[in-house]
Amino acid sequence: MKLNLENSTLKQNDIYARDYQKKIKDIHQRLHSADHSAGTTWADYPENYDTKEFSKVQKLAKQIKSNSDALLVVGIGGSYLGAKAGIDMLVTKKTDVEIIFAGINFDYTDLAQKLDYLKDKDVTVNIVSKSGTTVEILSTLNIVERFMKNKYKNDYKSRMIFTTDKIKGYLRQRAIAEGIETLTVPDDMGGRYSVLSSVGMLPFVCAGLNAKQIMAGAYDAYKALCAETIEENPAYQYAVYRHLINKKLGKKVELFASFSPRMASFGAWLQQLFAESEGKDGKGLFVTPLTFSTDLHSVGQFIQQGTPVVAETFINVEKPLKDTNLSNIALDCPIKFLDGKSMSEINSAAFNGTLQAHKDAKVPIAIFSIDEINEYNFGYLVYFFELACGASGYLLGVNPFNQPGVEQYKSYMKELLKN
Ligand code: PA5
Repeated sequence: MKLNLENSTLKQNDIYARDYQKKIKDIHQRLHSADHSAGTTWADYPENYDTKEFSKVQKLAKQIKSNSDALLVVGIGGSYLGAKAGIDMLVTKKTDVEIIFAGINFDYTDLAQKLDYLKDKDVTVNIVSKSGTTVEILSTLNIVERFMKNKYKNDYKSRMIFTTDKIKGYLRQRAIAEGIETLTVPDDMGGRYSVLSSVGMLPFVCAGLNAKQIMAGAYDAYKALCAETIEENPAYQYAVYRHLINKKLGKKVELFASFSPRMASFGAWLQQLFAESEGKDGKGLFVTPLTFSTDLHSVGQFIQQGTPVVAETFINVEKPLKDTNLSNIALDCPIKFLDGKSMSEINSAAFNGTLQAHKDAKVPIAIFSIDEINEYNFGYLVYFFELACGASGYLLGVNPFNQPGVEQYKSYMKELLKN
């Protein structure tokens, strides 16, 4: 993976400034401290992950593949966005086990539609909640349990897996009391940093993805990004870049754009990662994912000539999974000039054309390039952005590992429903 900040509108000296060097060194030590109680278990996870838990995921996935057509994953926020990002990015063909996500809203019409689709299929349910208190999850569990009981009678609990805290919470207690199978969310690892744990791995392996390759990519990122100096660490260069475009250039919005729709859910994961980690104390860049060229026809105009608040971060996939050439275009067709060109050439020209246009509009641009979409690169990107986000949050002076605003909405909602 390569990071290119040549179009950032900033000077390299700004990014490598002495003041930042000192801050980053301190942040590096905080992130990699042996004491992970601040919420930093993810930082050394590619090296220290629990291999027994990893094997348990493989074992459960094997069982699910042998007896289920679908895995219904019930989780919200960090407890599903990473899994969805990986599935949407990496799964290219119909899989033995279809992954369906639920628990992501209170709209019963949505859930009913999913359950109706599943009614004639064999299903395993994976309830994912670190806290075991999230109302979307517990209310969906209630309905899904009714569905499973109706379908499998007294045997239904053998088709339920709870992914939750090692000790605490309702789900863990219920699992112990009723002998329900469990997986564990590691200690001091918040939802949005948990995709490499069982939270993401069970859906990934069930969908036929290579979990070892994902971890190999994450491990190589962990090794490649272990330097505490900005010059040697692209994740820290990117964190400082983000800080500068906000503080020095006054940008308020970071658009995560890709010309590959396979990256759209990865963008949604990035949105949550940065928004929930940084959006505190009146600070942070508002992050929003876009897919081009689709969204150039909706928000391209604003990026080009609207209020100058946006910066753009591209995730550029160099080689698409599939390609074809245009051929036999009629002489009078307005796209005759594309005759013989491949779709990837055209997409690439669209990317470079957009880059030029947005550079002309003085939009700060960061470009991440990956050679292709695969498990290894997914793992690499996940670790890269987790590290960059942790560093970026600390540079802002906020705690990147809590989410007090979200907790507040949950508690107001509970009060309203209790009264
Ligand atoms: O990233 C986070 O920590 C949050 O988005 C949580 O994942 C989300 O609120 C769901 O919480 P829980 O896993 O406790 O149900």
